[in-house]
Amino acid sequence: MVTLMRILRENFCNSSVEVRVGKNIASSISEIKEKKALVYPHSLSFVVEKVKNGLVNFVEFQIQDGESAKDISFAIQILETMFHEGFTRSDFVVAIGGGAITDLSGFVASVYMRGINLVNVPTTLLGMVDAALGGKNGVNFRGIKNIIGSFYQPSLVVSDLSFLETLPKEELCRGMAEVIKYGITLDKNLFNYLSWHRDQILLKDNSKLEEVVYRSSLNKLSIVKEDERETKGVRIVLNFGHTIGHAIEAASNFKVHHGEAVSVGMVCEAEIARELGYTKEDVVEALKFVLKSYGLPVSLEELKVNVSSDMLLLAVKKDKKAKESTITLPVLEDIGSWKKIEISLEVMQKCVLKCLK
Ligand SMILES: NC(=O)c1ccc[n+]([C@@H]2O[C@H](COP(=O)([O-])OP(=O)(O)OC[C@H]3O[C@@H](n4cnc5c(N)ncnc54)[C@H](O)[C@@H]3O)[C@@H](O)[C@H]2O)c1
Repeated sequence: MVTLMRILRENFCNSSVEVRVGKNIASSISEIKEKKALVYPHSLSFVVEKVKNGLVNFVEFQIQDGESAKDISFAIQILETMFHEGFTRSDFVVAIGGGAITDLSGFVASVYMRGINLVNVPTTLLGMVDAALGGKNGVNFRGIKNIIGSFYQPSLVVSDLSFLETLPKEELCRGMAEVIKYGITLDKNLFNYLSWHRDQILLKDNSKLEEVVYRSSLNKLSIVKEDERETKGVRIVLNFGHTIGHAIEAASNFKVHHGEAVSVGMVCEAEIARELGYTKEDVVEALKFVLKSYGLPVSLEELKVNVSSDMLLLAVKKDKKAKESTITLPVLEDIGSWKKIEISLEVMQKCVLKCLK
């Protein structure tokens, strides 16, 4: 039985997306009668049963769990089978899983016959509030993360909150790092909501999670709509905390999870902006307070990994927002407001060492 859901629609340059948020809504995709490639990890067969309820005309692709699902070899295997099964341009790829599966499936959908319909059914909080939205996808090649990928929008995203019931608490908290990012950069009301309703959110109260997923989706899509291909300097706000976060992930050889790395990255980037006079002390403190309240780390020390400073600095220099001698960063002006700045790489690297020491 499909229950009530909230619906969000957004138009992009050449496409549009509908996002559905609610509990027990996964089977709503049974309205799609065309042939579907269902892509999901082995470990989520129990979740997939809910999606398959009433569904006809599909081929299943069970993939490895976690980041290893994003190896390009899986994309090639899926494409090959889709070709043999006679998939056409009017058919669909349906991704059921976390960000790893939606990234892989998005890439497959974008290249099969130069693009077929894509539906994302995210099953992690990170997937619902971030990875399944916005049209970025990517696979890993020769051990390099996301080195091959494209911008390709799903036409439908179904965020079924019942999936979060089985999600481990640490995975929920990792997703919360991105939600806190939307609050602190774009949406003061969301930020306050997260402070006031922490206990219910962590206890997975349905109405609170619905608000969190809905508002996060709204924030992300409003930014993506303005700057779909990251060329206008607006989408950069979604990268708040990610320059240093990615550097920590890379320097730890990906032992540190994305959510935790971004949490420390946000604090560090906020502290750098405070040093440079852009961000007020109380904004940095509010950010740290909320991150801590969701069990997220706010210092490198808490991550309990050895990362070499040289590797960190190298990763910062290689960041996509870095040029020859400068780097562009989104900085907080206040809770819910931000601006873009450009600073020298030398200053950035000095600040990184200072705040991560
Ligand atoms: N394209 C984008 O815009 C974007 C944004 C953020 C992250 N990402 C990508 O997303 C990936 C990380 O995504 P993730 O954090 O969702 O990780 P994930 O896809 O690896 O899933 C995390 C773990 O949770 C398990 N899981 C998933 N749903 C579950 C459920 N309902 N119940 C119990 N367990 C469940 C999975 O089996 C896996 O072990 C990374 O590859 C990252 O690069 C992409």
